[in-house]
Amino acid sequence: MTTAQAPAVRPTPILLDCDPGHDDAIAIVMAHRSPAIDLVGVTVTCGNAEIDKTVSNALRVLQFIGAADVPVAAGCRRPLARPLVLGAADGPSGLEGSPYLPAATKAVEPLHAVDFLAETLRKAPEPLRIVATGPLCNLGLFVLKYRQLLSKIKDITWMGGVFYRKSEIITPTEFNASCDPEALRLVLDSGVPLTAVGLDVTMQVLVESPQYAEFGKIDTALGRVVVDWLKFYERLHRTSMGVGGALHDPLALALIVDPTLVRTRPAHIAVDLSGSFTLGATVADFWNERGMPPNANIATEVDADRFFDLLYNLLRD
Ligand code: BDR
Ligand code: CA
Repeated sequence: MTTAQAPAVRPTPILLDCDPGHDDAIAIVMAHRSPAIDLVGVTVTCGNAEIDKTVSNALRVLQFIGAADVPVAAGCRRPLARPLVLGAADGPSGLEGSPYLPAATKAVEPLHAVDFLAETLRKAPEPLRIVATGPLCNLGLFVLKYRQLLSKIKDITWMGGVFYRKSEIITPTEFNASCDPEALRLVLDSGVPLTAVGLDVTMQVLVESPQYAEFGKIDTALGRVVVDWLKFYERLHRTSMGVGGALHDPLALALIVDPTLVRTRPAHIAVDLSGSFTLGATVADFWNERGMPPNANIATEVDADRFFDLLYNLLRD
């Protein structure tokens, strides 16, 4: 008698576009460690720090976790239409709190991130999924340069925007959106399916004492680095809002492994391109008052406990 075997599930190939950044770094770690994901490339943008630093951080993290074979391509030095305003949470290097990460010997790809994306998408047998955890400079430029390849992107899961302010710890604008709002508009108008995981949802996955206790049990070099990152990363949140660090980018990445961690609703997102205090604000039309077709699925709720369980499991050996 032969036993029927469940077909092996192929890991999902993804490209990660990021600006590491502590929470981006944790997303890189998760992508590499998850058996459900095949990390085919990392493209880097400016954002949490200048491009040279975010690229160096991506290389160092990948090398540290034994993923030096994952190609890294450097992208935009500045937003498409504005000067660069850096993120504030991650310190001058973009990854403060990890001085003992080795300097990378791994080299960056010779192609600009946008051209690397094009080449990788062209070669891929099927459309690829992209997770974006930074300002959308690279993807906006890709839309302008390679419109003919948009059909090779299956979808984009993006950490960014803010859609529903439920409390005073949710700011009216979000960094990834307001850093390069023109790029965001290009991506939203591109027709590529987009899931937006906004600040109002990611501010519900906070690292507080119970989470530190769980991370503390992961007694490995990687577990210790992650705790060190989190301790630096939470400073801004702790002093300005009185809460722990929010795992914005890891939540977006986690949706590739388990999309049921969040509920989503389709809506049209408009981006404020002229505001002074609201530049880059993302205004979601959940009731279709604008009469525009939805251009995104927007995360509205998250199961934080299940997200943290997934993260602890990925970090354990
Ligand atoms: C986003 O901005 C950055 O500081 C984080 O890495 C995250 O991608 C949160 O607003
Ligand atoms: Ca980021």
